[in-house]
Amino acid sequence: MTDIRTVGVIGAGQMGAGIAQVSAQAGYDVILSDIDQTRAEKGLAGIAKLLAKGVEKGKIEQADADAALARIRPAGDVAPLADAQLVIEAATEREDIKRTIFGNVGPLLGADAILASNTSSIPITRLAQAAPDASRFVGVHFFNPVPVMALIEIIRGLATAPETVAAIEAYAVKLGKQVVHAFDAPGFIVNRILLPMLNEACFALGEGVANVKDIDTAIQLGLNHPMGPLTLADFVGLDTCLEICKVLHSTTGDPKFRPAPMLVKYVEAGWYGRKTGKGFYDYSGAEPVPTR
Ligand code: 3HC
Repeated sequence: MTDIRTVGVIGAGQMGAGIAQVSAQAGYDVILSDIDQTRAEKGLAGIAKLLAKGVEKGKIEQADADAALARIRPAGDVAPLADAQLVIEAATEREDIKRTIFGNVGPLLGADAILASNTSSIPITRLAQAAPDASRFVGVHFFNPVPVMALIEIIRGLATAPETVAAIEAYAVKLGKQVVHAFDAPGFIVNRILLPMLNEACFALGEGVANVKDIDTAIQLGLNHPMGPLTLADFVGLDTCLEICKVLHSTTGDPKFRPAPMLVKYVEAGWYGRKTGKGFYDYSGAEPVPTR
């Protein structure tokens, strides 16, 4: 089984930085790469901020935070990933981008290195075709915010080797996460069940069943969810929600997964949620304000 000591993370955005942080806190050396050094450094600065907050709250020791931060090496290109036994791709949720990344990083990897994708819904078996070895390719699905969420979904493609699954499971357990296993079916477990709920909330909004605030309040308090579905959709990113709905719809052909017109409309407006400052809520003020 691959002995993982250094973890390479591709993409220093919210998910990639979170993966880098929890990996470093678990004792792994981490290479955090993005398309340029500035983005990689920005990801590292975000991690430093979260670790400092943890120290302030008395959740972690200053020495442990310093040690974790020192284990993360930012990189403006993929070349340093040659040192990693596990490389996790956490780039934009677009198949063409992920395929290009695998084409660039594949030739650098060692003979028993594992390549993993944090894709939310793109089939692992299909993505594996762009990897150097489909038997050492696997899905490792983290949840946002990564340092807080207890779950990792491990997705095996048709050709993923049992040794690859065992190595990625050992890594996930070392992070202190709970593991679930899924076969490479559309949306895996979580998003297959989550996205129809978020999408249905968009249908309900579009059909005038209730306004944004009442839909969220109904589900948050009526079902005891930490966030209402429209708040959660804004948190995930409406562009990402739409992409996942499209994948579920196109890969199953099942009309129950068709994207809600209201979700499409918000994405067409460029209102992607928190990351653009506006989605089902406007985040420009002190408190989020519903947009409908
Ligand atoms: N990064 C790190 N830590 C964070 C954080 C972030 N972005 N946001 C919040 N936290 C921490 C806070 O520091 C706090 O830590 P503490 O308990 O040690 O003080 C803790 O989380 C709770 O935060 P808050 O008190 O500020 O706020 P809430 O109690 O409202 O919790 C939440 C925030 C944890 C985000 C909670 O609302 C929640 O669990 N929401 C649902 C999140 C969810 O469903 N995520 C999955 C999305 S789906 C997904 O990722 C899959 C993808 O493929 C679509």
